[in-house]
Amino acid sequence: MRCYLLLLCAVGAASQPVCNHPPSTWCSSWEIAKECQVEKQCLEFYSNRDLKKSSEPAIQIDLFYESLCGGCRGFLVRQLFPSWLMLAEIINVTLVPYGNAQETNITGKWVFDCQHGPEECLGNMMEACLIHILDDIYKYFPIIFCMESSNNITKSLESCLAVYAPELPLKTVLECVNGDLGNKLMHENAQKTKGLSPPHNYVPWIVIDGMHTDDLQAQAQSSLFNLVCDTYKGPKPEPCLHSEITPLKRDVLCLN
Ligand SMILES: *[C@@H]1O[C@H](CO)[C@@H](O)[C@H](O)[C@H]1NC(C)=O
Ligand SMILES: *[C@@H]1O[C@H](CO)[C@@H](O)[C@H](O)[C@H]1NC(C)=O
Ligand SMILES: *[C@@H]1O[C@H](CO)[C@@H](O)[C@H](O)[C@H]1NC(C)=O
Repeated sequence: MRCYLLLLCAVGAASQPVCNHPPSTWCSSWEIAKECQVEKQCLEFYSNRDLKKSSEPAIQIDLFYESLCGGCRGFLVRQLFPSWLMLAEIINVTLVPYGNAQETNITGKWVFDCQHGPEECLGNMMEACLIHILDDIYKYFPIIFCMESSNNITKSLESCLAVYAPELPLKTVLECVNGDLGNKLMHENAQKTKGLSPPHNYVPWIVIDGMHTDDLQAQAQSSLFNLVCDTYKGPKPEPCLHSEITPLKRDVLCLN
């Protein structure tokens, strides 16, 4: 906790204070980081911190979703991303963009049909390519979060890349999206989604430690942070001891 001070005083000194929180608390939640406009600095801080390794395994959270479904966006932006940032030492996230899409093998190439139309397929493909190319959740999750919280998901790829992964050329991502690699990745996501047990009948479909129940889903959608803190059997990480997140109203689901 102490190192927040050192790291962020430099940021604070460089610009006018924009928020009413002391610098030592700027990275203590994503809400505060946003309000104080230090998201990028906090991400760097988070990705460089030494996570305490516990013998107790991390809680595995798999999110099956599609890029334009409102409920998926709500869960990813308001629950999964902020909880993961705070609780990265005890959460292991897997993102599977595909959701309620369908695939057909047309002369050896997979053709995808998405619930919210071709633009959703494009958004899913961009995100699958980012996950594959960057292969580091600290690099791709902020970009996907940035896209999913913007007005236009597909259009925001360029600006989100510029902020969170300026070293990755847009061209490289688009080559994947339009090429055989993207096709193969999306087919893999289709298979993972079709392999779900029980099979999904809406998205976002949340699987926690390999389990999906209506009750777990409802708890995760109202407060994933509290659910993870309550469920984790090992020593609780700092944020669990200090904060309790007010549960949110459950987002609408996208039925298939
Ligand atoms: C996180 O999940 C991935 C994919 O399921 C797995 O390969 C990896 O070992 C897990 N990491 C941790 C720290 O549990
Ligand atoms: C897809 O179709 C091609 C030709 O139509 C066929 O050779 C291939 O085996 C099919 N692949 C799968 C996985 O069904
Ligand atoms: C997003 O922007 C693209 C242009 O880049 C446009 O074709 C598309 O219709 C927009 N989507 C939405 C949902 O406004």
